[in-house]
Amino acid sequence: MDFATVRRHIEGVPYILPEMARDVYDFILRETPQNCLELGFAHGASSCYIAAALEETGAGRLTCVDLLPAREWQQPAIEELLARTGLGHLVQVEREATSYTWFLKKQIEAQTKNLHCEPLYDFCFIDGAKNWTIDSSAFFLVDKLLKPGGWIVFDDLQWTYASKVAKGKRKSDGIYLLDMGEDELNQPHIELIFQLLVMQHPEYSHFLVKDNWWAWARKVPGDKNVVFEMSAGYRQRLAAWEAEHQRRHRPPFAPFDD
Ligand SMILES: C[S@@+](CC[C@H](N)C(=O)[O-])C[C@H]1O[C@@H](n2cnc3c(N)ncnc32)[C@H](O)[C@@H]1O
Repeated sequence: MDFATVRRHIEGVPYILPEMARDVYDFILRETPQNCLELGFAHGASSCYIAAALEETGAGRLTCVDLLPAREWQQPAIEELLARTGLGHLVQVEREATSYTWFLKKQIEAQTKNLHCEPLYDFCFIDGAKNWTIDSSAFFLVDKLLKPGGWIVFDDLQWTYASKVAKGKRKSDGIYLLDMGEDELNQPHIELIFQLLVMQHPEYSHFLVKDNWWAWARKVPGDKNVVFEMSAGYRQRLAAWEAEHQRRHRPPFAPFDD
C-alpha cells in the first residue's frame, strides 16, 4: 500500500508523526526487513505504516506488542485500523499483562536450542515505556533476537517523566512518578539507554539521531560516530519553541542542567 493511502486511512490517529512514519516506511522499502517487531503499538498507527511498507515490498511480517490493560483506552483499537487498511494478514498483535519484556522472554525461550538463541528479527521499533529499567532490559533481550545486520530504532529520545509531572500525572504506563528521584524524573531514559548501552555495545554502529527524537542503530560492529539529522518541519518547531521559551533547546547527549 502506498504511503499516501495508508496515511489517509489513519488520518488523525495518534501517535506517530507523518515525517517519522515516512522515514520508517522508506527504511522498510530500502532495507526490506522480513521479520519486524514493534514494542508499544498504542492504536496501531505506526504498525499500519510498517505493514503498508511490508505489503509494498511483497514480503515480511510485523509482530507488535503492547499492554493488556492499555486496551481500555486504545480506541480505536489496532484491530480496527488493521481492518480499515486491510493489512491485518501481515500483523500479529500480542498483549502482555505487565510488559513486552515478558513477551521477549517467551520469544527467547522459543528460539533457544542447546543454550543458543537463534535470532529472529531484522528490525525492531521500540516505542513503549520510555523507562530505564524496562527498556534497558528490552534492548538486551531484543539484542538476543536481532539478526546480525538488523536495525533497531528508539522513539522518544529526549522524553522525560518530568514532562508528565508537569501535566499533573502521578503514574505513567503503570509506573508511579512520585516514587522517583529528581534525576530519574529529569533525565531522558531512552537517551541514557542509547548512549550508555546501545552505543557502547561492541556489536552496534551506524548511529543516526533524527529530529532529536528518533535514534537508529545497526547491529554491525563499526564506527561509533553519530549522525544528527533534522527535517525542515522539526527545524521550524524547534525555532518556534526556542522563541517562545527564550532559550536554546537541549541537544541530544548534552550534559544535564544542574
Ligand atoms: C507512544 S505509544 C506507542 C505509539 C505507536 N508506536 C505509534 O507510533 O503510533 C506507547 C505504547 O507503549 C505501551 N507500553 C508502555 N509500556 C509498556 C510495556 N512495558 N510493555 C508493553 N507495552 C507498553 C503503552 O501502552 C502505549 O500504547
